[in-house]
Amino acid sequence: MAEKERTFRFVVVGGGIAGVTCVEQLSSQLPSADVALITAGYHIKAVTNYKQVSKTLEEFDVEEKPSSILEEKYPNLTVIHSAVKSLNTTSHSVETDNGRIFGYEKLCICSGGRPKLLTQDNPYVLGIRDTDSAQEFQRRLSTAKRIVVVGNGGIALELVFEVEGCEVIWAVKDKAIGNTFFDAGAAQFLIPSLEAEKTDRVVPCKRTRYTTEEPAPGAAQTFTADGNSQAHGSTATEPGSALGPDWHEGIVLRGAEQVSRRVCLEYQCEVEKIFTPQELLNSPQQTLNPENSKSWPVYIQLTNGKTFGCDFVVSATGVVPNTEPFLHGNNFALADDGGLRVDDQMMTSEPDIYAAGDVCTACWEHSQLWQQMRLWTQARQMGWYAGRCMAAHALSEPIELDFCFELFSHITKFFNYKVVLLGKFNGQGLGPNQELLVRCTKGQEYVKVVLSGGRMVGAVLIGETDLEETFENLILNQMDLTPYGEELLNPNIDIEDYFD
Ligand SMILES: Cc1cc2nc3c(=O)[nH]c(=O)nc-3n(C[C@H](O)[C@H](O)[C@H](O)COP(=O)(O)OP(=O)(O)OC[C@H]3O[C@@H](n4cnc5c(N)ncnc54)[C@H](O)[C@@H]3O)c2cc1C
Ligand SMILES: *[C@@H]1O[C@H](CO)[C@@H](O)[C@H](O)[C@H]1NC(C)=O
Ligand SMILES: *[C@@H]1O[C@H](CO)[C@@H](O)[C@H](O)[C@H]1NC(C)=O
Repeated sequence: MAEKERTFRFVVVGGGIAGVTCVEQLSSQLPSADVALITAGYHIKAVTNYKQVSKTLEEFDVEEKPSSILEEKYPNLTVIHSAVKSLNTTSHSVETDNGRIFGYEKLCICSGGRPKLLTQDNPYVLGIRDTDSAQEFQRRLSTAKRIVVVGNGGIALELVFEVEGCEVIWAVKDKAIGNTFFDAGAAQFLIPSLEAEKTDRVVPCKRTRYTTEEPAPGAAQTFTADGNSQAHGSTATEPGSALGPDWHEGIVLRGAEQVSRRVCLEYQCEVEKIFTPQELLNSPQQTLNPENSKSWPVYIQLTNGKTFGCDFVVSATGVVPNTEPFLHGNNFALADDGGLRVDDQMMTSEPDIYAAGDVCTACWEHSQLWQQMRLWTQARQMGWYAGRCMAAHALSEPIELDFCFELFSHITKFFNYKVVLLGKFNGQGLGPNQELLVRCTKGQEYVKVVLSGGRMVGAVLIGETDLEETFENLILNQMDLTPYGEELLNPNIDIEDYFD
């Protein structure tokens, strides 16, 4: 490796929430330390309107801002716009895409993740990850009559709810929607939202082939011409930051048709194969006639045997940690999910190297009430805590795992409902050793409590339940709730009176 251009005390890679929070923490805690933020994109993600809702619940907005905002605020911070292409842990240096080499005393990798795509290099398969790919999605949706959404996480949920004017076939691998976030009961509660207001209704999918579909030559042709001339942006080499909770805000997700929402669910299936019209034509098991197969630019076969034609497929099946540039020549311990393993001080297995956010996997012994999920809140918490650990280690001070890792908590919105998730909200890892209490008022609220050994270990609150703080306390203090039995969810009792 060539000469280092400059050596910084702290180098942070990645301008997403984790990296920016880490840099801010380092710069405000040690204002005279020289800190560098190396990031691929031009914009950084900034947390705004941060609000601590309760002991562990937090709410904030995320805004894309020019990086100069940070440099103005922290004079000893240098922002370098380039992607890191390699890391030499021996010489303590990173090299960027444009060949610059920077040394570090301590490094924090916050390079996030990229969408797991169903297939590489298929122009009809889109992943949604950053602003660019969201815009690409919107552009292509505007001429689409039918899309297939594959995946069952938060992105898929929001997408299906927000898209108008285009039929959506939604393929989920589980028995219920939103499996990452809640159980079948909560899913049942939410399903009517897909039928409400702007939609026609949710139609059960009975169709197995295309005989009666009205061909859509106009839209398909426009799209084909367009799609061919378009390099697909989602696998670009310089990834932007992941989008946050309101990624679709200000983006109209409207398809080519006048109809409002029309969602068709396919449960318990995955993608078997993605076909071009030509491949479909030549495949022996298909009975499609040529006119019909010409109607759609792409076909997708699911493991339940059904085949659908559509304008394009959206792959929303999770993320893969962005680790590649850092691995070559080094010895990072990786977790099963591909993330960089970090301990309770956010340290990787390589000396002086930390990691935070979607790129890392929390491998300390978790609190019984916490689990890692690649979410906004955790990216902020990890970035913040990693910054504090780096500063503490630089000053040879001790530091303890932060309280925010005691209890999993997340506030979000699905289908316009407020959703609060606490602890082992889905009974994660509890097996048969759990008891559930549920209270549900159709169209209004869904409350689920997970008890284990008479103690509350998790909760799902959908709607304006106003129970989050009380339940958070009950989970944190692990009080024996056996005497209360089902009264715990009796809506006529003000539960706060019980425990204050
Ligand atoms: C469409 C969408 C919707 C989402 N909705 C929600 C939601 O509602 N609620 C929620 O909590 N979470 C949501 N998430 C997840 C959330 O966005 C992520 O968990 C979070 O943004 C992770 O932050 P991060 O800082 O770890 O990574 P990222 O935000 O991905 O940032 C990574 C940064 O690293 C940079 N980078 C990558 N590689 C390199 C390199 N080699 N060199 C230099 N820089 C590099 C990138 O440019 C980027 O700036 C959503 C994600 C998506 C994609
Ligand atoms: C920047 O660092 C220098 C020394 O490294 C220090 O004197 C100066 O006060 C720092 N600036 C701020 C704003 O803290
Ligand atoms: C890393 O740096 C060390 C020490 O400078 C050097 O010997 C080694 O060749 C470098 N490794 C790579 C892959 O460049």
